[in-house]
Formats: sequence, C-alpha cells, structure tokens
Amino acid sequence: KKTIRDIDVRGKRVLLRADLNVPLDEDGTIADDTRIRASLPTIRYLCERDARVIICSHLDRPQGVVVERLRLALVANRLSLLLGRPVMALQDCIGPEVESTVAGMSGGDIIILENLRFHPEEKADDASFAQNLAGLADIYVNDAFGASHRAHASIVGVPKYLPAVAGLLLEREVNTFARILKDPERPSAAVIGGAKVSEKLEVLENIISRVNLLLIGGGMATTFLAGRGYGTGASYVETDCLDAARFLEAKAAERGVRLLLPRDVVVAERLEAGTPFQVVSADAIPDGWAVADIGPKTADEFCRELAGMRSVIWNGPMGVYEIPAFAEGTRRVAAALANLNGTTVVGGGSTADAVRRFGLADEMTHVSTGGGAALVMLAGKPLPGVEALDDLEEA
Ligand code: 3PG
Repeated sequence: KKTIRDIDVRGKRVLLRADLNVPLDEDGTIADDTRIRASLPTIRYLCERDARVIICSHLDRPQGVVVERLRLALVANRLSLLLGRPVMALQDCIGPEVESTVAGMSGGDIIILENLRFHPEEKADDASFAQNLAGLADIYVNDAFGASHRAHASIVGVPKYLPAVAGLLLEREVNTFARILKDPERPSAAVIGGAKVSEKLEVLENIISRVNLLLIGGGMATTFLAGRGYGTGASYVETDCLDAARFLEAKAAERGVRLLLPRDVVVAERLEAGTPFQVVSADAIPDGWAVADIGPKTADEFCRELAGMRSVIWNGPMGVYEIPAFAEGTRRVAAALANLNGTTVVGGGSTADAVRRFGLADEMTHVSTGGGAALVMLAGKPLPGVEALDDLEEA
C-alpha cells in the first residue's frame, strides 16, 4: 500500500484519520495519552511539509449524538501541548462552518474536527457523510491503526473519493505484525492470555502454525484445563469452547508446536482485591475457588522458556493484573520479554496497558496501539481500513 512517503503532500489539504480514542478518567481527564503520542510522527511529517492538517477521530462510543464530555477539544489541548504549536478544535466534523475554517487554513496549520461518532452516519458508513469529509481535503491519510478493523465512513468511505495512503503509525503497526507472523526469527513463541478463548479462537488457530512454542495463561487457560478433564472450581469456563481447546492441543501436537498450560495457579474466593487466595496445582483446583493468575512455578517455567526465544508475540494478560495480588504472572512475563534479546511484539488493549503499568513499554520492540485491530492482524485477516488504501504501482 502507498504511504505518505509515496506522494507529494507539500501544501496540500490532508484529512488525517487518527485513532485518538484515549481512555478517560471518571472526572473526564485523559487517563493515558499513548495514542496521541503515537500519532505525532505523522502529524509532524505533514506540518514540516506545510500541509494543512485536518485531523479527525472518534472518542469513545457516543451513539450518534453529541456528548459534551466526549468533545475532541480535550484531545486538541493535549496534542497542542505535545506538539508545541496551536491545534484548533472545531464544533462539528462536517458542514459550512467547518468548510469555511478549512478554506482559511495556511500551510502547517492543524485543526481537529469534532468527534466523528456524534454523527450516526460515521458508523453506518454513509456515502454522503464520507463525501462531505472527503470534500474538505486533497489527500486522505489513515494513521488510525486501532480503528482500521471498523468499516466506518472515515475509515473505508472517504478513501473512495480521495487519493488514500497510510500514515507512519499505520505502516509500522501493519508491517510489524506482518513480519512477526510471516517470517519470525526462530525459535519463536506466542504467549496468549486474557479472559476468553472464544475471543481468540481465530488468533490461536492462525498462530499455532507459525510459532515453535505456545504459552497459554489468563482466564482462558482454565477452559483448556477443563478440556483436559481437570476440575476448575468456581472459575469461569467456556463450556462451548472445550472441543475447540482440545482440538487446538491436538493440532499443536500434530505440528510439533509445544503448547504449555499452567502447571500451578493462584486461586481466589472472589476476583477482588483483599479476598483470600492460595497457590494450588492446576489439576487440584478446590471447589468454590476461581483461577486469578498463573502460579509461581508456571511463571518460572514460562520465563525460562521465553528466555530461549528469538521472537515473541504476546496478547492477553496472565491474570487479573489490575489487582496487585494477581498481577505477578503478567509482571513476570512482561519482565521476561523486556529482557529478551530478540523481537517482542505486544498486542494492544489490556496487554499494552499492563506493560505500561509495569513501566516496561519502552523495553519492547513494539507495543501496539490497537486492541481489536491487533487481534484481527494476529488472526491473519485483512483490515478493512488498510484494504481501502491505494496500492503502490507495480515497478
Ligand atoms: C479501540 O479503542 O479499540 C479503537 O479506538 C476502536 O474503538 P471501538 O471499539 O469503539 O470501535
């Protein structure tokens, strides 16, 4: 696909779709500005070339109506601070006022359109809404990796009407996932965790044929343990995924992939802070107790195994890492990856959040800004937002 480096952006009006959907605290302040920071290289690249930069994004899920606390002025302020230059926030994303403001822009100016999801047409991929957005610019740049799995107007609609290229973040995200999946340095491993097998079936099926070692942790490991016939106490088990878990274990064995499940687990009476907990063998989970983390022996084994790898993909925490008593497994895996002398790619969402909480994000080769989008890449499926961009001409 074409990127901003393949076209002339100098002096042009550029509609930049970014994913500035940042998590907010209860008081409405930005809890984590990683996604804004990750968008800076493309914005700077465009400004340095005197492009007139018209940024658009969604924030949260306002369901097609104006929600005051989800106005993008909040994001514009932070962006302006980070860039050290003015960023003007508009009150809408389409319409005559937006058009006249854009008409008055000079080279290097930056504006942010209002939250795209204040209009129901964004999610509906409405053609005239997309045309109105496209009418503001000469070129469309998609840098919104985290939203590129959504077939929304600003992602797949606008590129129908303008030259459409990838920004620097989108390019890096897509290339990183493509490389570690297609041609990983070996030996290679994947660590997959998180609550549900059902959300990661396609990821597991795709990854199992691409790595040498697969480590399973988190709540979903319990479904694999149940698939082996172990008692799982009060743990959450997806009974409709037991066959899938057994099938994946058989497939791993058939392909010579080592698939490891926890050998011990931390179990708790409830998945809450301050609740009683104990470490037990994975085949002896007591009635009434639920798995909250991998156990210390498992963490030792996972870390030992990972130390010998040349590339590792990680998606999904090993336990309820938000609660300090159940964070140890996730912290140990994060530390093992941080120390690895090889490539480490962390899928976004809660895994990225965990890595940041432990202060280890900078030690990884790549921490994705996408949650759902990273899962689509790991499942080996195309992203609609990438498909919609212009192809490079054959040499
Ligand atoms: C995300 O946070 O994963 C992206 O910004 C997409 O948001 P959505 O899940 O509300 O479409």
